[in-house]
Amino acid sequence: MAEFKEISPNASAGARLLNWVDNRFPASQLYKEHLSEYYAPKNFNFWYFFGSLALLVLVIQIVTGIFLVMNYKPDAAVAFASVEYIMRDVPWGWLIRYMHSTGASAFFIVVYMHMFRGLIYGSYRKPRELVWIFGCAIFLCLMAEAFMGYLLPWGQMSYWGAQVIVNLFSAIPFVGPDLALLIRGDYVVSDATLNRFFAFHVIAVPLVLLGLVVAHIIALHEVGSNNPDGVEIKGPKAPKDAQGHPLDGIPFHPYYTVHDILGVSVFLMAFSAIIFFAPTAGGYFLEYNNFIPADPFKTPNHIAPVWYFTPFYSMLRAITSEMMYALIACVFGAGLFAALKSKMPSFMKAVSVVACVAVIAMMLSIDAKFWGVVVMGGAVVILFFLPWLDNAPVKSIRYRPDWQKYLYAVFVVVFAVLGYLGVQPPSEIGGRVSQVGTLFYFGFFLLMPWWSQIGTFKQVPDRVTFEAH
Ligand code: HEM
Repeated sequence: MAEFKEISPNASAGARLLNWVDNRFPASQLYKEHLSEYYAPKNFNFWYFFGSLALLVLVIQIVTGIFLVMNYKPDAAVAFASVEYIMRDVPWGWLIRYMHSTGASAFFIVVYMHMFRGLIYGSYRKPRELVWIFGCAIFLCLMAEAFMGYLLPWGQMSYWGAQVIVNLFSAIPFVGPDLALLIRGDYVVSDATLNRFFAFHVIAVPLVLLGLVVAHIIALHEVGSNNPDGVEIKGPKAPKDAQGHPLDGIPFHPYYTVHDILGVSVFLMAFSAIIFFAPTAGGYFLEYNNFIPADPFKTPNHIAPVWYFTPFYSMLRAITSEMMYALIACVFGAGLFAALKSKMPSFMKAVSVVACVAVIAMMLSIDAKFWGVVVMGGAVVILFFLPWLDNAPVKSIRYRPDWQKYLYAVFVVVFAVLGYLGVQPPSEIGGRVSQVGTLFYFGFFLLMPWWSQIGTFKQVPDRVTFEAH
């Protein structure tokens, strides 16, 4: 037990109260460690707004969610009507609902920007691997949360979107059909599905999500933030003042708390503009078909997930039986490449063995649907391995060869094009482009150990570069 700290009886009531609390709970210590004495690099740029914005959107979703649950009914017979009731009769219900539905898209916009920042500044690299891994787990949770939330209004897209995605699980060999049954709780999406998705959306996933966000920030504060130069400000060689504080760092509070108010203000302006003037965002944030009640007997002409899933959905659709041959060739080539280029013999041998097993498995069962699911899942899972894929001698994109910058730009374009194609109905040309895009996406990550070290890297400065503004 820590020693009891005495305080003068003449101290102010506030100081005495704080002392009383501090002797029982480390309030001041937590405040210092995570805010007033958490030193963050002084050269943060606009990309660093998105972490605090993600926190803000998380709070918005939780608060609006609580109010929605007060009037929403998780019952297939009345769910759709209860949402209409919220929109028309509940005082301010329309605002709460649109904040929550726009909030879902905002969450993904903010998180995609946040992840991209990590990608370009090498924030996933040593010693921040766990910060990144917790982040990837958050991303998975967010996807599950959004997917299950979308079923709740019980519109046509809710229903058929869930039907399509849950059916994908049945493509998994041996356990698939039973797994799909377990998820739905029925042979088709039904009231049982709605009830379990409600339970997961409202309590189970948010709990995990909150836990992961806390772990994400604790891990970050353990190692300290990266910055646009990728220069460590807290390492043993970093310059420090007489008290041992990094010379290139500033206390998070008040400097970045005030700085983040700018980001929050701009974000809230854009967020309000969408909520008040274009809450459906032209069918992208809330699809038109979802204003029609779910009808198990009438399949909509075109079923597409919401925009934030569509890059991955495109990858799923790209895996046709014809594409399987290209995939087999690529995996075989990758195995061969790993075996030949091996610098770490045991690891590379393992890669080539895995590749051989995968090729054999693919040849034995050319079930494009199953491999499509593997590719779609793999596109997210691969992100977890990023810290060990990047072999560049520098962290930040600023000091990488120019051609690598273009490669990152092409990556963004490809991801956006995959996203666009995923909302469009399937087409011959779109399918081909998705296939090329899918190969590029995986090539970008899987070949990273090789390409990331090629080229002339710029000299990384000893101190962060910063111009006062
Ligand atoms: C609910 C979602 C999330 C929240 C609330 C959140 C929150 C934060 C906050 C507050 C920071 C510190 C401020 C900043 O650097 O911007 C941060 C840093 C970071 N986050 Fe997240 N995050 C989320 C999701 C993710 C995801 C999905 C990833 C990646 C897959 C990720 C990767 C990182 C990394 C690598 C850093 C350190 C950045 C650096 O030091 O340069 N985060 N996060």
